[in-house]
Amino acid sequence: MTVADRATAGFRQRYGAEPSGRWAAPGRVNLIGEHTDYNDGFVLPFALPLRTVVAAATAPDGHWTVWSELDDTPVEFGAEQADEPGRVDGWAAYVAGVVWALRAAGHDVPGARLAVASDVPVGSGLSSSAAIESAVLAALVDLGGLDLPRGRWPRLAQRAENDYVGAPTGIMDQSAVIRGREGHALFLDCRTEDVEQIPFDLDRAGLAVLVVDSRAPHRHADGEYAARRRSCEQAAATLGVTALRDVAVADLDAALARLDDDETRRRVRHVVTENQRVLDTVTLLRADRIRDVGPLLTASHASMRDDFEITVPEIDIAVEAALSAGAYGARMTGGGFGGCVLALVDADAADVVAAAVTDAYAERGYAAPGTLTVLPAGGVTRLR
Ligand code: GLA
Repeated sequence: MTVADRATAGFRQRYGAEPSGRWAAPGRVNLIGEHTDYNDGFVLPFALPLRTVVAAATAPDGHWTVWSELDDTPVEFGAEQADEPGRVDGWAAYVAGVVWALRAAGHDVPGARLAVASDVPVGSGLSSSAAIESAVLAALVDLGGLDLPRGRWPRLAQRAENDYVGAPTGIMDQSAVIRGREGHALFLDCRTEDVEQIPFDLDRAGLAVLVVDSRAPHRHADGEYAARRRSCEQAAATLGVTALRDVAVADLDAALARLDDDETRRRVRHVVTENQRVLDTVTLLRADRIRDVGPLLTASHASMRDDFEITVPEIDIAVEAALSAGAYGARMTGGGFGGCVLALVDADAADVVAAAVTDAYAERGYAAPGTLTVLPAGGVTRLR
């Protein structure tokens, strides 16, 4: 059964009725630009062909009930719980958070019954949370006929995650999931929210992006993420700039000389050089030189490993094995401390590279990784 059929079947079985519609939102990978979003910097993610689907209909009692195929027990909440961040917890908090963010922005959100099915793996760093937020948001906007232009959806979904769920994440994931376009990577300026769709036609170039799910458990991911964010914000304050985005590569040495501990210097060096790598990647893609992006991806990985210190052994091994097997470049993608690696490969070499990573894992006694080749897909949409 497709993910859309599972959502519909779940809706029928749970609520004994037909949904009024189905809304699908993709997961994402980030080609390059890690931990730059909350520094007002640049990112270049793309939406995945894996999607989360929400089947939904309005509920006359004004409550929200949500069922997920991952947890057979439905969660029900009313305005009182939705209006108090943290009252609904677990996976349903992403749904309640969207209701909260819409209500906080003054919208009259209709009560609804929702059924969720997903092909986006949870906890792999592929933004399953942004996918459910965005699919629910699209459903509620349509069901309620809310006047909310799509350009404002990413901030609203981010607010659900920051202020209701309590995860201090940036704007990248929701932007990729909402604004992604097939065959393109999304070049986003996280300060202005200006976007440019950059053609990323892997197919035509005979290339593919191989995604390797390390399946490494996220170790302290939440606390470490918040700590990285804090240290970037403190460094920006010390340097007297609004955000690290305001430090140019040409000024990096002078900036580093003004910081007095080595750890902060490395954190800053990662962010400043990573922003430049995004810009360089965009320049190469505009010139249709996709293969030449490889070394930038690998340099980004080294920076995350050595300067930002957010990788784990399973991740580093996957990158090394992919490169040894002929990938043009490879890097961890997402927040870090586990999750996925992406590798730029010749399409007909993807299997060989995937097998090399699987062998490297077996040699070290790690559980087998998940492997998948992907092409850039479109953002959140209502299904026919
Ligand atoms: C997570 C966050 C994003 C971003 C990345 C790191 O995916 O949700 O906002 O900060 O980590 O680039």
